[in-house]
Amino acid sequence: MAEKLWGGRFTKAIAPEFERFSESFSYDHRLALAEVRGSRAHVGALQRAGIVSEQEAGALREGLQRLEAELRGPASPLNGNGPLPELEDVHTWVAQRLEQLAGPAARKLQTGRSRNEQVALDLRLYLIDHKEQLFALLARLLGNLGRFAETYAEVLIPGYTHLQRAQPVSLGHHALAYAEMLLRDTARLRDAYSRVEVLPLGSGALAGSTLNLDRELLAKELGFTKLSQNSLDAVSDRDFACELTFVFALLGVHLSRFAEDWILYSSAEFNFLLMGDEYATGSSLMPQKKNADALELIRGKSARQVGNLTRLLTLLKGLPMAYNRDLQEDKEAMFDALQTVLGVLRIAAGVVETTQVRADRAARAADDPALLATDLADLLVENGVAFRDAHEIVGHVISKCVAEERDFRAFSTAEWAEIAPGFLSPERAAALTAAISVGRRNSLGGTSIEQVRAQARRIVEVATRL
Ligand code: ARG
Repeated sequence: MAEKLWGGRFTKAIAPEFERFSESFSYDHRLALAEVRGSRAHVGALQRAGIVSEQEAGALREGLQRLEAELRGPASPLNGNGPLPELEDVHTWVAQRLEQLAGPAARKLQTGRSRNEQVALDLRLYLIDHKEQLFALLARLLGNLGRFAETYAEVLIPGYTHLQRAQPVSLGHHALAYAEMLLRDTARLRDAYSRVEVLPLGSGALAGSTLNLDRELLAKELGFTKLSQNSLDAVSDRDFACELTFVFALLGVHLSRFAEDWILYSSAEFNFLLMGDEYATGSSLMPQKKNADALELIRGKSARQVGNLTRLLTLLKGLPMAYNRDLQEDKEAMFDALQTVLGVLRIAAGVVETTQVRADRAARAADDPALLATDLADLLVENGVAFRDAHEIVGHVISKCVAEERDFRAFSTAEWAEIAPGFLSPERAAALTAAISVGRRNSLGGTSIEQVRAQARRIVEVATRL
């Protein structure tokens, strides 16, 4: 292993097994570009403080420039081009590589700065770097759900409570329910990011910096709008990571519910949806199989997200002020949470885009007269029957239908007279359909086609502005 950033105080070398146990470079190398950016800002601060000369600052800037080019290039040592060097962490790697590229001036770079603040800065920068991609994927999924809802606004399916048929709803309405959840997640994400975008630099190891830093200037250089206000807090705060991970977990849970519905709806038992081949798989044994693996994985990945959140919260519980090495364990959870949410959003968008609707099968299921029981009770109410009594009467109607395997819409006038004496609307009862039921629910947010179309257009429009 390479020279440590802290070797002077020690007389014996670190135990090799402890060195392996404690290294973080195998995963925190992802922070290398952020570390370079933070270092560049620190060079300016050192120059302003008179710690490095103009010439040294120039050498450091040029070295950092070359390092960045190297990291972004195809031969980047951190992009799977051969095994990673055995190093303690990304901070050590950047310091070492910079010394090779910029010469002895690199040994001054650590003046007045600590890895405790660097790692906090890097993690924030890394998350900020992925913000655009996150919102773009959310926008794509929301847009796809909105377009799906617009296209299939008129396709009716049974709506369920307790997974029992309840009332007919538009398939578009069902899709938009998930769009609403995602819209709230988007707002949560925006809010959480406002606490990611806080500059911790200038906190030193824990007590603040001895350099007369212009933190406002550092923030500007690094694209932050806010400064941390307490150095102890700044080096040990991981609330921002918890908050983002919570939003990712909730998003994961929302998409898991969505996946569950669509898995059910694409089974032969429901048969409302036909998965696109692009997002389905077959069986090595059973030739007829078409499995919704993409959706199953979306559902399954929510477990990781809940796990990542639990990991972070448990990590923080009971940590004494300020930085503790435990905090190194935040990164894998955070990286995994981010990569997982990106993957899940991407695949969900693709699934929505490629899924076909079996309108005929949906119509057949939505035509179940039992779904119209509430509308039938409403007809009685219109005729002056109290709802509780109407409920009771329709209950008898349904049990008669079940026992005799009949549709109440085919009841004769004589039968109606017996079941509900004085019922004035048997012909309207006979004419009840799923479309009528849905059309009657035209309140804002209801399932009428008109409402669904308007909401679908709203979602598509909002998605373009995310
Ligand atoms: N690898 C460490 C982390 O991720 C770096 C931070 C500082 N390390 C230290 N021993 N003070 O948290």
